[in-house]
Amino acid sequence: MRTYLVTGGAGFIGSNFVHYMFRKYGDEIRIINVDALTYAGNLANLKDFEGKENYTFVKADIRDKAAITKIFEENDIDRVVNFAAESHVDRSIANPEVFVETNVLGTLVMLNAAKQAWENEDGSFKEGKRFLHVSTDEVYGSLENPEDYFYETTPYDPHSPYSASKASSDFIVKAYVDTYHFPAFITNCSNNYGPYQFPEKLIPLIINNALSGKKLPVYGDGKNVRDWLYVDDHCKGIDMVLENGRLGEKYNIGGHNEKQNIEIIHIILDTLKEYLPDSDPRKANVSEDLITYVTDRKGHDRRYAIAPDKIKAELGWEPETCFAEGIKKTIKWYLENLDWMTNITSGDYQQYYEKMYKDR
Ligand SMILES: NC(=O)c1ccc[n+]([C@@H]2O[C@H](COP(=O)([O-])OP(=O)(O)OC[C@H]3O[C@@H](n4cnc5c(N)ncnc54)[C@H](O)[C@@H]3O)[C@@H](O)[C@H]2O)c1
Repeated sequence: MRTYLVTGGAGFIGSNFVHYMFRKYGDEIRIINVDALTYAGNLANLKDFEGKENYTFVKADIRDKAAITKIFEENDIDRVVNFAAESHVDRSIANPEVFVETNVLGTLVMLNAAKQAWENEDGSFKEGKRFLHVSTDEVYGSLENPEDYFYETTPYDPHSPYSASKASSDFIVKAYVDTYHFPAFITNCSNNYGPYQFPEKLIPLIINNALSGKKLPVYGDGKNVRDWLYVDDHCKGIDMVLENGRLGEKYNIGGHNEKQNIEIIHIILDTLKEYLPDSDPRKANVSEDLITYVTDRKGHDRRYAIAPDKIKAELGWEPETCFAEGIKKTIKWYLENLDWMTNITSGDYQQYYEKMYKDR
């Protein structure tokens, strides 16, 4: 039975990954989820797995060398998937320090703990061990020419403290590959969307605000372009890289689905109007009049666009969910899980944690 150590598994993509992997492999795998439960971590995302024999949650910080080393000492870990990070660009502009601490130094702690556990006396590594560092397309900077795309060979040019911290962590992982032949991969993915995303990010924020008749803030002219991928397609890519990727390589993951922010907002409003029955009082709130242009984000990158040619050619990865279908699925999920949204925005999930894990 393969054992996965997933960091940041209580966050958006990490929790979707745990769901994806148990759906795909069932009881053939074991997952240890290590998460510090910052504001972005939510154990309610994983309540389906509580009490499951092959699932363990450990509350720990990836910067905590002793705690992370102990997990490696007590478990024979086969795969590490490092999602844990501070992930919101606006927060990185307000408070860069924690981004460097978690994203760079935390990744270093993870690498060292895995290296110590997996390295043989002669400097080689135990068979079959794999470390995958989850990164972002934002490390490549901003594209001006509409025909340009980010390739794995595109030079890094990060602009925000967030993307600079992710770029730094990628370089540290690469250094471990180049220096020690450490068995790692880096994946650089475009913007994800789907269930369990914290409502500070564009899509859940717009859904939540529109339902309650709050303003829909749009940065600048609303024409910044992001490349959107349904979160399960990202999870599928990570699994494929872990099992069949070439060790030491980096892979871009993205679905050629570029959209301006303002387009996304209109799609959400149209879909909400379509889904909400006339009898639902929230339907009256959903209106284009809520769109409010606000001062642009500092250093706002104009366009990101991933070329996923390498992962397609080498591993046969393709996105399965087109945007038209994915956004409908996503909006439906938020409409059906209003309690989740209410709890996460009211801080109740902190109490949930206390209740579930206080005495463990
Ligand atoms: N969301 C996207 O669109 C996107 C796109 C590409 C790459 N990524 C990358 O994917 C990863 C996951 O992103 P996400 O959107 O799920 O983020 P998220 O903010 O939703 O979740 C991050 C998780 O990490 C945990 N965490 C934070 N600091 C920690 C620490 N010091 N120790 C242990 N756990 C800690 C949080 O509690 C949370 O559960 C990140 O590395 C991010 O850079 C995200």
